[in-house]
Amino acid sequence: MSSHSSYNTIPELPELYDSIPLYNSRRDVDLYVDLCRETGIALELGCGTGRILIPAAEAGCVVTGLDQSEYMLARCRAKVEELPMETRRRITLVEADMTRFRLSRTFKLVIAPFRPIQHLTTIGEQLNFFRCIREHLEPGGKLAFDAFNPSLASLAAPINLDEIEDTPELSLPDGRRLRRAFRIVRKRHAEQCNDIELIYYLDGRRIVQAFPMRYFFRFELEHLLARSGFEVTSLYGAFDRSPFGNDSPDMIFLATRIS
Ligand SMILES: C[S@@+](CC[C@H](N)C(=O)[O-])C[C@H]1O[C@@H](n2cnc3c(N)ncnc32)[C@H](O)[C@@H]1O
Repeated sequence: MSSHSSYNTIPELPELYDSIPLYNSRRDVDLYVDLCRETGIALELGCGTGRILIPAAEAGCVVTGLDQSEYMLARCRAKVEELPMETRRRITLVEADMTRFRLSRTFKLVIAPFRPIQHLTTIGEQLNFFRCIREHLEPGGKLAFDAFNPSLASLAAPINLDEIEDTPELSLPDGRRLRRAFRIVRKRHAEQCNDIELIYYLDGRRIVQAFPMRYFFRFELEHLLARSGFEVTSLYGAFDRSPFGNDSPDMIFLATRIS
C-alpha cells in the first residue's frame, strides 16, 4: 500500500467526505460521466465513495472502481447495494493501490477524478501509476484525470497556522452538527508538497485528516505522460471544458495510450 493512506485511518471519514458541499457539489460529474457513457467500459482509480462511479454506472457504463481505502470502499459498497440490480451488475469494486495493481484485463477508459494523483508525492509513484494505467488500457484507450492548477500567489504566501473555515456548520441527516476547516502546516517547495490538515468538527469532536498534497505544473504532467506512453489530446482549465489558461482552477488532462 502507498504510504499516504490518510483515508485508511479515520473510520468516520467517508461519511464526512460525502457531507461536504465543496465535494458533493463539485461540477466534475458530467465530464467524467459523459466520457464513461461514450466509451462504455471504464476503470476509476481512487473511486472513493462512488461520487462519480455510481452515476457512471447509472448512465450505462460497465465500471470497475479501485481504491486503497477500506473505509471509502465500504461506504461505496453500501450505496451500490441500494441500486437496482441492473445497475449493480455493471459495478465491480477492488481494494488496491493504484500505483501497483494487476486486474488481468483491459479497459477502454481509465479515469482518476478529483486529484488522486496529488496523493502521489514521488516521481517513482507517479510513473508506477501511469505504468499501471497503460497496462490496463487497450491500445488507443483513453485516460482522463485532474489536478488543481497551483496558484503562484498562494504558494508564495507565508505559512499561517490559523484554521480557515471552508464549510460553515451544517446538520447531518441524524442531527449531528458538522463544520470543517483546513490549514497548510508546512510548505516543502523543494518537494512540491504542502502538508495539509483537513479539520472536521463533528458535534465538538475535532477529527484531523493530515496528508502531504503534491502539486504539479502543467508541463511536468505533460512530460510524465509522454514518458509513460501517452499522447495528450486535450487540456481543459475547468470542467466546462474551457481551455487551460493563466487563471484556470484545474488542469483536466485527456490522453490516449500510444500503441
Ligand atoms: C479526493 S478522493 C476522490 C474520490 C473520488 N474519485 C471522488 O471524486 O469523489 C481521493 C481518493 O483517492 C484514494 N487514494 C489515494 N491514494 C491512493 C492509492 N495509492 N491507491 C488507491 N487509491 C488511493 C483515497 O482513498 C480517496 O478515496
